[in-house]
Order: sequence, then C-alpha cells, then structure tokens
Amino acid sequence: MTKIKLQAIVLAAGKSTRFNTSKTKLSFTLCGQEMLVYPVQLLLKLNIQPTLVLGYQKEAILEIMQKHNLITSYVIQEEQKGTGHAVLASKSSWDSDHILILNGDMPLVTEDIINALINTHIETDATISFVVAHNPDPNLSGYGRIVKDQNKISIVESRHFTQDPAQYCCVNAGIYLVKRQFLEFGLTKLETNSISKELYITDLIKLASDNNEKVETITVPFDNVRGVNTLRELWAAEQIKRAEIIHNWMQKGVHFLAPQTVHIDSQVNIGTDCSIGMGVQLRSNTQILPNCTIDAFSIITNSIIHESVTVQPYSIISDSEIHQQASIGPFAHIKNKSIISSGAQIGNFTEITKSFIGHKSKAKHFSYLGNAKIGSMVNIGAGTVTCNYDGVNKHTTTIENNVFVGSNTALIAPVTISKEAFIAAGSVITKDVPEQALAIARAQQVNKEEYAPKLKEKLKLQENITGILASNPTQITPDRS
Ligand code: UD1
Ligand code: MG
Repeated sequence: MTKIKLQAIVLAAGKSTRFNTSKTKLSFTLCGQEMLVYPVQLLLKLNIQPTLVLGYQKEAILEIMQKHNLITSYVIQEEQKGTGHAVLASKSSWDSDHILILNGDMPLVTEDIINALINTHIETDATISFVVAHNPDPNLSGYGRIVKDQNKISIVESRHFTQDPAQYCCVNAGIYLVKRQFLEFGLTKLETNSISKELYITDLIKLASDNNEKVETITVPFDNVRGVNTLRELWAAEQIKRAEIIHNWMQKGVHFLAPQTVHIDSQVNIGTDCSIGMGVQLRSNTQILPNCTIDAFSIITNSIIHESVTVQPYSIISDSEIHQQASIGPFAHIKNKSIISSGAQIGNFTEITKSFIGHKSKAKHFSYLGNAKIGSMVNIGAGTVTCNYDGVNKHTTTIENNVFVGSNTALIAPVTISKEAFIAAGSVITKDVPEQALAIARAQQVNKEEYAPKLKEKLKLQENITGILASNPTQITPDRS
C-alpha cells in the first residue's frame, strides 16, 4: 500500500460549556491521565505529527503537554466559533497533502481506528473519509447524525435534527481525513450556522457530496469514539477505560478478587501472579513486580513494590519503594520517598515518612517514624515515636543495626542509637546511645510496701464524707442566728 504524507490537527480550543466546571474539560483525567493526552499520545505513537488548536485555557493545556513530555506544535483559535472555524485557524500549520482532524474530547479512540481510516482513505482515493458509529438510543444527544439520501451524504448536528432519531442511528465520531486541496476550498465555503453562530466542520461532508467528491466512511464500535461533553460522559468513558485496563492485566496473569471495585491508572504496571483485592486503587506511575498481594482497599500511588511483597488491607503507600518480601499493613501509611527494605515488617497504624527501614526490621504496631534512618534487624516497639519536628525544622533519627527499641519510646531528634543498643520501654531518649548500651530514660518507680490496702481505706473514707455532705447540704450552712 502506498504511504501518504499526512499530519494531524487536534481540536482543543473549545470552552467546555457543558462541563459546567471552571477548568477545561480536556484537563480532566480518566484513569489518571488527562483526556487530551490520549489522542495526542496515540498520534505520536503512529508517527503522525499533531498540531493542537488551542484557545480556551491554552496555558493549562500546554502545561499538561509539557508534564507528559509530549512534543506538539500548536496554533491559536482566538475566538471559539465552532469546529470548522478551529480547523481554519490551523491553516498556517498545514504542510501535508492529507490532513487528519480529530476532536480532542475522544479519549477512547484506538490505533486500529486511525489505521483503518487511513487505509480506507488511501485505497479508495477518497476526498474525505470519516469515522461513524451506530447507537440505537433515540435519546442520544450531542452527536451529528448521518443522513444518506440518494447517493448524497451529510451530517446533521443533534440540535438541528428534526427527524426521528430511531431511523438515523448512525452518528459522526469526530475524526476526518481530508485531502488538503479540498479542505482549503471547503473551508472558504462553510457558512455560519444561523442558530449557533458557529462554523461546523461537519458541513464539509455535504459540500463534498454535493460536489460529487468521493466521501468514504468507516464504521467502528460506538464505545471507542464516545465524545466527552459532560461530567456524566466522562464517568461513562472512564468506566470503559478502567475495564480495558483491568482486562489487559488479567490477560497478563494478574488475579483480581473483585475487579469491578478496583481502579488502576493507565500508567501502572503489574507483574504476573499478583493478586489484587477488593477496592484497591493503583495510581500514577506505580509499578508492582510479580507475585505480590495487594489486599483490600489499599491505595498505592507512584510507588515501586518489588517481588513477593504483601500489602495487607487498608494500607496507603505514596511516592515510596517497598523491597522484596516485605510485609505492610494492615492500616499502614508509608509516604514521602520512604524505602522499606527486603523482609521488613510494617504493621498496623504505623506511619512512615521520608525514612529508610533496613532489611528485616520490624515496626509492627502504631509507630511514627519520620526522617528516620533505621538499619537492619531493628525492632521498633509498639508506640515508638520519632520526635522529628521542633516546630521549625525536621531532624534525623538514626538507629543502627540490631537495635531493640522498647515500647512507647520517644526519640527526640536529632539522635543516634548505635548498633546493638537496647532502649527500655517508656523511655524519652534525648541523648545519643552508644553501641550495645542499655538506655533507660524514665521516672524511677517507687514501691511502698503494704500500702495498697491503706490507700483503699483512705479513698473509701473520703468518698463517705463527700456522700454525706452531698445528701445533707444544710450541715455545711453556717448558723447565723
Ligand atoms: C462534534 C461534532 C459532532 C460529532 C461529535 C462527536 C461538530 C459541529 N460536531 O460535536 O458531529 O458527533 O463531535 O463527539 O463538529 N473545539 C474547538 N473550537 C471551537 C469549538 C470546539 O477547538 O470553537 C474543539 C473542542 O475543544 C472539542 C472538539 O472541538 O475538543 C469538538 O467540539 P465539541 O463542542 O465537543 O463538539 P460536539 O458538540 O461534541
Ligand atoms: Mg464533543
């Protein structure tokens, strides 16, 4: 098949009126990625250079492109006067014989659809080729309907359509491949719609047809070309994207216990033989290596989980790395570039921030470890707290290998506990502890022999006096007669 030189124009200048939000709809995410990024990434993957037509909130869109390292050129549509007007605004960027035009609000479009459109266009030598889909729902609104009448074809926009929609269930997807020569001619002929005051790109179809130019269509599944004009349509599109992502991981050997409740962002990677529990969310650039268990309702964001790690229910891990065979949770919170080394165990209600936890160390019950460097084989007792913040600065707590920290210890940072030291439970550690030392830093206990019964008697007596006074208050009223 002959190759043609083509370029793409992505329409992204619209005002997103039907979203009723302050942000442009194109910046809203589906499975963690902004809507406009999907078609742009797809074009770049197919080696078709896209030019964006920007207008409304163009800075926000350029920021998104930059964030994703997407190299695109752009033109400005100063006023938003419709899709035909937007294409006209891109004219200065045309340098190919065929122009592929895509709406920016169709995040589910696939590589196969674009390839099929290009193939049809080349094989038939069409002047315009465009994508259509069938949807029998007569209440479907917002789509241009395809009207065929004695070899003529046109698109009638939803708001101007007066016939029975049930008879016209073929709709326009918003992807067109046009010979540049015709596009140049056609755009000069477009007329502003008298009701909407917009120029419609869709009017090019009727124009081409009336001029006996060859118009071709390809038909694709409706779900792949859903447009997103409202928050409800965003939700519908995201559900489809989410299901696609989960099906893909299932195929690669990931076991989901309740897939309908799971959310996985599009950039996430999951290794084979992983098990993903109910309500799990895997977000951003999270990488899960093979053979991990991520149990119910855990949320992992932008983190690396190495092989054979167990994350028990309700754990939250953000921007951190967990090494092989570590065990996390339930109810653990690990964040802020923390590293948990292999075989470590982090248990319930333990919060770890900006800390390193060494090989096989344990912090199994309600601890706070912040700005801590903890060696290997360290035991952090229940209720241990690193007091890392003095109200102005954060300070480091260093705990070397094989240290035992007894329960309910407060470590006032900066402080270093050298290797193999032992800290007695309930200590408030303010000074460094040398190697192999035992540190006890708590009030001394006093035992008073045989004193408990006496104390009880004393307390009972006190209670009786209080009771009598309460039931007969006159007794305490001074006699003034
Ligand atoms: C459009 C089509 C409709 C099709 C549907 C598919 C037109 C007139 N209608 O309708 O036939 O069935 O898509 O989803 O084309 N934009 C600009 N500048 C503007 C106006 C819009 O750049 O002045 C951009 C928008 O940002 C958007 C795209 O063009 O990305 C499509 O605009 P939108 O308003 O969503 O068109 P629809 O009403 O969905
Ligand atoms: Mg739309």
